[in-house]
Amino acid sequence: MPPPIEFQVRRRTLLAGSAAAAVSAGFTGKAGAQSGATPAGSETTTVSLTVNGEAREVTVDNRTTLLDALREHLQLTGTKKGCDHGQCGACTCSVNGNRVNSCLSLAVMHDGDEIETIEGIGTPEAMDPMQTAFVENDGFQCGYCTPGQIQSARSVIEEIRAGIPSHVTGDLTAEIAITDEEIRERMSGNICRCGAYSNILAAITQVAEESA
Ligand code: FES
Ligand code: FES
Repeated sequence: MPPPIEFQVRRRTLLAGSAAAAVSAGFTGKAGAQSGATPAGSETTTVSLTVNGEAREVTVDNRTTLLDALREHLQLTGTKKGCDHGQCGACTCSVNGNRVNSCLSLAVMHDGDEIETIEGIGTPEAMDPMQTAFVENDGFQCGYCTPGQIQSARSVIEEIRAGIPSHVTGDLTAEIAITDEEIRERMSGNICRCGAYSNILAAITQVAEESA
């Protein structure tokens, strides 16, 4: 018995549609594996960045995170990958003066942006005050979380001085004091598996007092 007429129409429509899609994909260069062209979803983009004061260009798969662009394309491995899920803060770097978790941000979103990584804030011979304070206060053990901690720590002081409130800020109309509670709250996105928290707090407090 022949199939119902409805099925015949659908089958014919499907075949015609597939053929049209294959032809059109061939013209647009977006065909799948059979044509040997780049599969859909693998497009690349060239992104212009200023990284640590230097103009850089990277051509990345559109799905590349800022973290991977820094580490894998620009060989700036000071910015660490801990969780790759926005939960540990190891990948913290500065974008246009604001701290971001670079594992949660796509590189293509940052065309024209100014990026600062741990490599850009100081050298062993001329350390940033926050780096010096971490050394003087033993603010690290293994050091894996430290670049992210230092990037966040610098931003924390700037954010408090800019009057940006946190969850623990009491009076939203008064000047925000740089207290242990404020620092702990604002650094809560940076995990230290070695547990150097009290020394990290001491380092940040030292810098805040020295720069008051
Ligand atoms: S690696 Fe980005 S938050 Fe953990
Ligand atoms: S110093 Fe080891 S994870 Fe923080």
